[in-house]
Amino acid sequence: MAEILEINDLKNLARRRVPTMFFDYADSGAWTESTYRANEQDFSKIKFRQRVLVDMTNRSLESTMIGQKVSMPVALAPTGSAGMQHADGEILAAQAAEEFGVPFTLSTMSICSIEDVAENTKKPFWFQLYVMRDKDFVINLIDRAKAAKCSALVLTLDLQILAQRHKDIRNGLSAPPKMTPKNIIDMAIRPRWCLGMLGTQRRTFRNIVGHAKSVGDLASLASWTSEQFDPQLSWKDVEWIKERWGGKLILKGILDKEDAIMAAKTGADAIIVSNHGGRQLDGAPSSISALPEIVEAVGDKIEVHMDGGIRSGQDVLKALCLGAKGTYIGRPFLYGLGAMGKQGVTKALEIIRKEADVTLALCGKRTIADVGPDMLYR
Ligand code: FNR
Repeated sequence: MAEILEINDLKNLARRRVPTMFFDYADSGAWTESTYRANEQDFSKIKFRQRVLVDMTNRSLESTMIGQKVSMPVALAPTGSAGMQHADGEILAAQAAEEFGVPFTLSTMSICSIEDVAENTKKPFWFQLYVMRDKDFVINLIDRAKAAKCSALVLTLDLQILAQRHKDIRNGLSAPPKMTPKNIIDMAIRPRWCLGMLGTQRRTFRNIVGHAKSVGDLASLASWTSEQFDPQLSWKDVEWIKERWGGKLILKGILDKEDAIMAAKTGADAIIVSNHGGRQLDGAPSSISALPEIVEAVGDKIEVHMDGGIRSGQDVLKALCLGAKGTYIGRPFLYGLGAMGKQGVTKALEIIRKEADVTLALCGKRTIADVGPDMLYR
C-alpha cells in the first residue's frame, strides 16, 4: 500500500475500496459542482507570512469550541450515510474522534442511530438535526439526543429543499440502491467492503426507520424523506427547537451576512459558515470567501465556525486566521473511513494536526490564541 501522507492519499485509497456509488455520494457536489470545487480552490489563494528566529518550542493546538475543550479546533461534520463508506462507520468515526479529543457530529441521516453511537462511545458527541415536517418525529429525535447526553445540537438550516447531485442519479443511488449489473459487479470486486456490510446489523437509517410514522423499511424511507424536508422552516422554529433542546445550540449553513445577524439574535452558541460542502446551492461562494464578512458582522456576538473544502491543517489555520473559532471536516474523514475504517479517520486527523502544527511554527506562532490575521498576506 502506498504511504498515506496527505488527505488525498486517503481519498485515492477510499476510491479503490468503496463501491463507486457510495464513494461518489461523498465525493460529489450539486449540479456543476462549481461551489464544491471553489471550497477547496479558494484556500490556495490565501498565503501565509513566513517568520524566522521566533522561539517555536512548547506549541499547542488545544482550544475550545462552544466552551468545550478540543485537542485542535477541528470537529467531524455531520455526514449522512457515513455508515455506507464502511460498516458501522458512524460508530468508528465517533470512537476515533473521541480518542483524538475532537467533537464528532452524528447526522440525522446516519446509518447508525444515536443509541448505537452512545452505546459504543464513552464521551458525549454532538447531534445534527434536520427539521422535518413531522414535528413529532423532530421531538422524538431531540429527546433521544438528550437521553444519549449529546453535548450540542447542530441545527442544519440550508436543506429546506434538496438540491440535485447528478452522480447519485447516474449511479442509481437510492434507498434501496439500484442493483444494476454494473453496481453488482462494482460491489463484488470490493469483497472487504461487502463482507463488512454483511457482518453488521446496521444497514438502514436507524435514526429514522422504526421511529418515524410509516417508515418501516428502506423503501418507505425513500418516499418519506423526499417529502419530509420542511420548506416552511423559519426562525420561529429555531426558537422552539432551542427551547425544547435546552442545551448548546449551533446553527449550520449560514453563508450570508444578513442571515448571520438573524442567527446571532437567536441566542445560539455558534454558527457554522457553510454551503453544505457545495452540495446545495451550486454557484454560491466558497465558505472561506464568505467567512470574513460574517465574522465582521457578528464575530463579537456569537462564535463563528466554518466548514467546506478543508483538506489540510493549513486550511484549518487559514480559517482561524480569518476569524473562525472552530472548523469541521466532512469528506476528509469520510475518505479515511472508506480507506481504513477507524484507523483511517484517526489518520485524517493526524495528518491535519501535523500540518497545522508545523505551519504554526513556521509562521512564528505557538498556540491557537496567537493565530490571527497577521499570519496572512491580505
Ligand atoms: C454532508 N453534509 C451534511 N450536513 C448536514 O448538516 N447533515 C447531513 O446529513 C450531511 N450529510 C452530508 C453527507 C456527505 C456525504 C457530505 C460530503 C456532506 C455537509 C457536511 O456537514 C459539511 O458541511 C461538509 O461536508 C463540509 O465540507 P467538506 O469538509 O466535505 O469539504
